[in-house]
Amino acid sequence: MTSTVMQCPEDAFAADVTVGLTATRKSIPPKYFYDTLGSRLFEAICSLPEYYLTRCEASILERYSTDILGHCDSDICIVELGSGSSVKTRYLLNAASQTEFRTSYCPVDISEAILNETCRQLGSDFPSIDTRGIVADYTTGLEMIRRPGNARLLVLFLGSNIGNYDPTQAKELLTAIRARLLPGDYLLLGADLKKSSEVLNAAYDDPVGVTAAFNRNLLRRINVQFEANFDLRAFAHKAFYNGDKGRVEMHLVSRKKQTVDLKKLELTVQFAEGESIHTENSWKFDMDQLSGLAKAAGYSRVTSWFDKNGYFSTNLWAAA
Ligand code: AVI
Repeated sequence: MTSTVMQCPEDAFAADVTVGLTATRKSIPPKYFYDTLGSRLFEAICSLPEYYLTRCEASILERYSTDILGHCDSDICIVELGSGSSVKTRYLLNAASQTEFRTSYCPVDISEAILNETCRQLGSDFPSIDTRGIVADYTTGLEMIRRPGNARLLVLFLGSNIGNYDPTQAKELLTAIRARLLPGDYLLLGADLKKSSEVLNAAYDDPVGVTAAFNRNLLRRINVQFEANFDLRAFAHKAFYNGDKGRVEMHLVSRKKQTVDLKKLELTVQFAEGESIHTENSWKFDMDQLSGLAKAAGYSRVTSWFDKNGYFSTNLWAAA
């Protein structure tokens, strides 16, 4: 396993928090949700009955992994961006281990602890697959990928992680991935689809309060990292589908007029009652938008697979 440790630099976090909390409309980028506790809370979200995304995508991979790999009838190197514990990927690895072709697997994730454990487990469960993790963010991970021999690359970007990027950034990221691919390589993209606001609102505002804890944990992280004094109970979790924009928005809404000090940043922030910190967008797609995105980023759409309710899509795009 490659063990280059790349962490979210504290300076970038400090700059993003300062800019975000001093703007007229306050916001903090969602990438800062994922400290150790935040990553655990996200795993808990994935097992909530209301959060259908993970189950839908798992059902697609369980059912169609053999079809997906049928498009790559040669030795392949599966690269997964933001692999986490690679649970859903096991369906693909299982199908790959039953073909006559050589498969290698390269999970890329920012968490070294999770990667080490995942690679150890996969090495024992899939001994025929050469698994080498890369501890890195997506951009660095992409640069570190080495193609074994003439293998095709199959890049996985699952979980609708693409939905957390605004449309321009999403196009840029997909274009950057495309730049690492050669003709004959593929991208497998998980994308959540537009659907009723009832289903979407429940998925992002669960009755147990796990998503609320995930959202508020951002303030806890800021308290620890920047010696701040956010009172977590004084901020309400708000999540709703904004149908005009086609995205679920998450906010932390100040329950009262209050002042927060962030000592290490030498910053004092005033909140009016009802004022929000916008913490996440989760964009939802339709198939026309996905086709447009594929084209704009330099791919040709091969095919898409769906769960039985048509909630989620798994899209195979070829490097055109
Ligand atoms: C990681 N990402 C795709 C999740 C999503 O659905 O946008 C993050 C999340 N936020 C609230 N619940 C889950």
